[in-house]
Amino acid sequence: MTESASFWDKKAESYAKSKIGDEATYQRKIAETQEFLTPNMQVVEFGCGTGSTAILHAPFVEHITAIDISANMLKIASDKAKDAGVENISFSCGTLQEFNAQAGSLDAVLGLNVLHLVPNRQAVIAEVARILKPGGIFVSSTVCLRNSPLRFIKLLVPLGKLLGQMPDVFVMSEEEFAGEVTAAGFQIERQWHHAKGGVAVFMVARKR
Ligand SMILES: C[S@@+](CC[C@H](N)C(=O)[O-])C[C@H]1O[C@@H](n2cnc3c(N)ncnc32)[C@H](O)[C@@H]1O
Repeated sequence: MTESASFWDKKAESYAKSKIGDEATYQRKIAETQEFLTPNMQVVEFGCGTGSTAILHAPFVEHITAIDISANMLKIASDKAKDAGVENISFSCGTLQEFNAQAGSLDAVLGLNVLHLVPNRQAVIAEVARILKPGGIFVSSTVCLRNSPLRFIKLLVPLGKLLGQMPDVFVMSEEEFAGEVTAAGFQIERQWHHAKGGVAVFMVARKR
């Protein structure tokens, strides 16, 4: 098991109990995502965590595969889906690359609050582009710290990791992130800052 998977396994229970920091912004992201969803869509969400967002979107699409590196997160997510009577989500443990979807097979890919946590972000974005159909959508919400005073949090990461209290965090600017998404073959259709602090960037991008 990787260090990151073990970190999130340990955090799964407390993450499931934690409250959404800014409910209005979360609901805006849900609503804006659903503007792009249609009933026949095949969707993948990577880094799905405890599955709350996949469960909300499931009634609007044909099928969601919810992927996460943490087996404990997925156990909570699948229990929640069962309790909610949602039957069109399947769960897969691992990274998006390990899932290895067929090229051009998906209508939408979601990566929410996860891309700033992966060391190989550009490879993950390239994988999203590979597995989406032309015209498919990529929805992301990503912490972009480069131009924020919060970037200094990166200095705390080694200690936080040592104490088991922080995951690795990768620092980028919003412009850098948008440039990477565009360079991978997407056209950005929505891009806005999180209301609080302005560091989380919500983006909907369409594969050209
Ligand atoms: C901050 S949580 C976000 C969970 C959920 N998307 C949300 O918005 O509440 C990050 C999640 O990404 C998962 N994760 C971290 N690195 C990953 C990777 N390389 N591939 C897939 N999942 C990953 C973690 O296990 C964790 O569940």
